[in-house]
Amino acid sequence: MASFRQILLLLTYEVLFMSTVLVTCIDAAKSISTGIVPKRLVRKLIHRNSVKSPLYNSDHTNFDSAKFAFKDSISRVAMIEEKMKRCEVNMSCSDNIQANLHAKNWVGVFFVEFHIKDMSHPMLTVMDTGSNLLWVHCIPCPNCAQASVRIYNPSTSSTYTNVSCRSEYCEALRQRSCDQNDNCNYELHYEGAYPTAGMLATESFIFDTTDDGLLTVPNVVFGCSHESNDKPDAVMGVLGLNYNKVSLAAQLGNKFSYCVGRIKDPSYDYNQLILGEGAILEGDSTPLDTYNGYFYVTLEGISLGEAMLDIPRDSFRRTDSGQGGVMIDSGGEHSFLDQRAYEELADAVMNTMNLNCWFESELHYSRLCFEGNVTKDIKGFPGVTFHFSGGAELGLEAESLFSQSNPTTFCMNILRADYGQPGVIGVGAQQYHNVGYDISGKKLFLRRMDCELLDE
Ligand SMILES: *[C@@H]1O[C@H](CO)[C@@H](O)[C@H](O)[C@H]1NC(C)=O
Ligand SMILES: *[C@@H]1O[C@H](CO)[C@@H](O)[C@H](O)[C@H]1NC(C)=O
Ligand SMILES: *[C@@H]1O[C@H](CO)[C@@H](O)[C@H](O)[C@H]1NC(C)=O
Repeated sequence: MASFRQILLLLTYEVLFMSTVLVTCIDAAKSISTGIVPKRLVRKLIHRNSVKSPLYNSDHTNFDSAKFAFKDSISRVAMIEEKMKRCEVNMSCSDNIQANLHAKNWVGVFFVEFHIKDMSHPMLTVMDTGSNLLWVHCIPCPNCAQASVRIYNPSTSSTYTNVSCRSEYCEALRQRSCDQNDNCNYELHYEGAYPTAGMLATESFIFDTTDDGLLTVPNVVFGCSHESNDKPDAVMGVLGLNYNKVSLAAQLGNKFSYCVGRIKDPSYDYNQLILGEGAILEGDSTPLDTYNGYFYVTLEGISLGEAMLDIPRDSFRRTDSGQGGVMIDSGGEHSFLDQRAYEELADAVMNTMNLNCWFESELHYSRLCFEGNVTKDIKGFPGVTFHFSGGAELGLEAESLFSQSNPTTFCMNILRADYGQPGVIGVGAQQYHNVGYDISGKKLFLRRMDCELLDE
């Protein structure tokens, strides 16, 4: 039988243990809600082919980049489609199938760099408005020993905390579980690759902002990934910017904007992302609709030059069962349109050109190609404009609309979407614009802009 002293010790231990747990929970809850929210956090967006990207390869030609943009855009929509299909079947879709970073599938368009905990842990993540969680590889992880970069180790950090299972952030995740210490675990499934899983946690993140120097943001909620069959390399995770509570965009005030300039130029250095209250919400706006983890917009028409194309509005509408519609995306370069809209646009574009043309297809996507040189052979091309409800517009010049695939062929950067799948407005179509997301106000702002002006 246990002595009184032993029982007392046990009880004391229990009480101590409980109070430790309680304190941890309260601390975690408190620190999350009182985190300092910076007013304006400015980061460069590093295009994957830019000279500043770890994927930069000086042997690659513009044709290689064009080919990659095409393949990567298709991986991107395939990923979106897969997620949609799963959502139809069983609704447990929201956190599934995110960035398939290293499975030779989707790579993303822009990388964002910041530091976790201190300046010795730089992190390069893929910007994705279609993901919710900001996650990075953490020690311990199965393949971390072979990593080419230094991996963050939460056990050596005094600013790291686990997020409780009862936290609102944990509850905002669909694929979550609780461990024996009541800590929140997340799981992300990749299409065609291994899932990754880890702890939902908070930590200080340091952003080297161009205008305000180093800015430390304490208690950022993020995913610390311990299980992954990927070998961590220079690109270490995903920067989720959708409207879910756990996304960095939501944590930093539900507003963000990005400005995208000439993406074909590897030394163009003015693409940027602004998070927080100071995001640029300027220009005409259009309602921003959120559905299934993505941002949707109401496209009302497309014009070529002055001529409005004859496309029924239904081509752009999302049905009650969630099919179709048009999303604005940051994870792929090319755009996709419903069959009817695509054919009207392709016809009109063909008719303005005096060049041989044909359709090339890959999987079930199709694109229009021409024989010629895009800089030389289509001088005076009238330009294509997307018209959104509320009056916002996105204008695409020849440079945004076409890519030279080889010395004698150029193709349209808008492809035909698979039947029933959403249309996608890719990054290429957003070039030379500032795009502002007001998540709580449910508005998207579009303004034609030279991003270089934002740098001054
Ligand atoms: C439905 O969800 C479960 C897990 O949440 C998954 O195992 C299953 O494969 C899903 N069904 C389909 C058809 O995707
Ligand atoms: C976070 O949770 C993990 C798993 O339960 C545990 O091993 C680790 O020590 C915890 N870290 C802190 C700082 O509480
Ligand atoms: C297209 O024409 C421009 C201007 O003449 C030239 O500089 C460029 O090299 C040509 N591109 C190709 C792929 O031939």
